[in-house]
Parts: sequence; structure tokens; C-alpha cells
Amino acid sequence: MDGNTNKYKLKAVIFDLDGVICFTDTYHYQAWKAIADAQGIYFDEKINNRLRGVSRMDSLDIILERSERSYSAGEKEKLARQKNEIYRDLLKKMTPEDLPQDVKATLEALKERELKVAVGSSSKNTKMILRQIGLEGFFHAVSDGTNITFSKPNPEVFLKAADMLGLQPGECLVVEDAEAGIQAAHNGGFLSAGLGAASDYEWTDYPLKRVSDILNVIK
Ligand code: BG6
Ligand code: MG
Repeated sequence: MDGNTNKYKLKAVIFDLDGVICFTDTYHYQAWKAIADAQGIYFDEKINNRLRGVSRMDSLDIILERSERSYSAGEKEKLARQKNEIYRDLLKKMTPEDLPQDVKATLEALKERELKVAVGSSSKNTKMILRQIGLEGFFHAVSDGTNITFSKPNPEVFLKAADMLGLQPGECLVVEDAEAGIQAAHNGGFLSAGLGAASDYEWTDYPLKRVSDILNVIK
């Protein structure tokens, strides 16, 4: 990918939330771990990586792959509800201190450069999290689990974000920590930047060590 070409046409950055803007990915893990342990189902960080970017019910299906018995639709609904209660209790403790300084500075620098900033998250808890960390009203667009039908790797959440911004996918850079998210960006015609394990997936255009590295992509 030619960085010199891209830095002139990019007009927006669409951020994944969990594991990119803040470390709620560890709260998802803790909550699912509590559910898996209570059910006697093996669950570890490696399996957890497959849940990144994936909807709540699809995440549960991945966890239940390790179960020795099958679960009814009603049982699954109950487990998903319990997981969300544990997760939201963890979210309630979050404050603006949980917005990493590197992310805060990057968001502000992008706005100073007159780029648009958006959220593209599969989570139905997005608005609560943004409120907790002091980012309510900060983004030009928020596309999340409440306005999509298809979870990542389907590009819907990012396409809706681009649409809210009035931009084409090719004008937006997606920042992700999930393989499903990088695939979604690629499937939708977006450039992508990957953090953590997502820094070297097949479709990742820009590997990142930290979020502020995107400031080198967008000059
Ligand atoms: C994504 C997370 O952002 O949101 C997934 O990476 C999670 O792990 C998904 O399952 C749905 O989140 P929620 O908050 O609606 O259960
Ligand atoms: Mg994520």
C-alpha cells in the first residue's frame, strides 16, 4: 500500500471500540470466563481472541464449541444475559481515566488536522462506554451493535459509519484489534490499521504498535 498516495485521500478514521479506544476487551474476557467456568467449559485467551469483533450471541456459540452438551436457545439467551450483566457491572467502574492518554491525544490530533472521527463497534454497550470514559458527543459518527444486522467480518458497521460521515469507504481508515474487524474493513473497501495480533493479519494495511502510530499514516 502506497502511504504517500493514501495520506492525501484519507478524510476520516473509524475506530473499533473494545481493545482499540479502551481496554474493555479484558472485561469481555473476564465476564465470559466467569460464565465458562460456571458451566465447566474450557476457555482461554486464545479462544478469546476469536471473540474480538464478534457479536455477543456469536461469541457464546464459539465458547460453547468446547462444551460436552448442547444448549437450548433459552439457555443461550440466559447465559448471554448473565454475561452482559457481569460485563456492565465492570463497565460501571470505568471513568475518563480509563481512556488511554495515547488514544486521547491521537483523537485530538486528528480533529486538529480536520479529519472526521467515528466509532465502528459491534457492541450494544458502545454508548454507555463512551459516556463512562468521557467521549460522549466527541465523535462525528457512532455506528454500533444497535444499528447493524450483520456482525464483523461483514462490513455493515463500517459502511454505516462511512455513510453517517457522508464519505466513501476508500476515504476512511479503520483501526482494529480483531481479525474479524480487519476482514470487515477489507470486505468493505476500507484501508485498515491493526493493533496487537491484528498487526500482521493478511488484510492489514498498516501494522500499529500503538494507536498514535496512525498519525504517521495520515500526515
Ligand atoms: C465487540 C467485542 O466490540 O463487541 C466483542 O470485540 C463483543 O468481544 C461484541 O462480543 C459485542 O459486544 P456487546 O457489548 O454488545 O456484548
Ligand atoms: Mg475490538
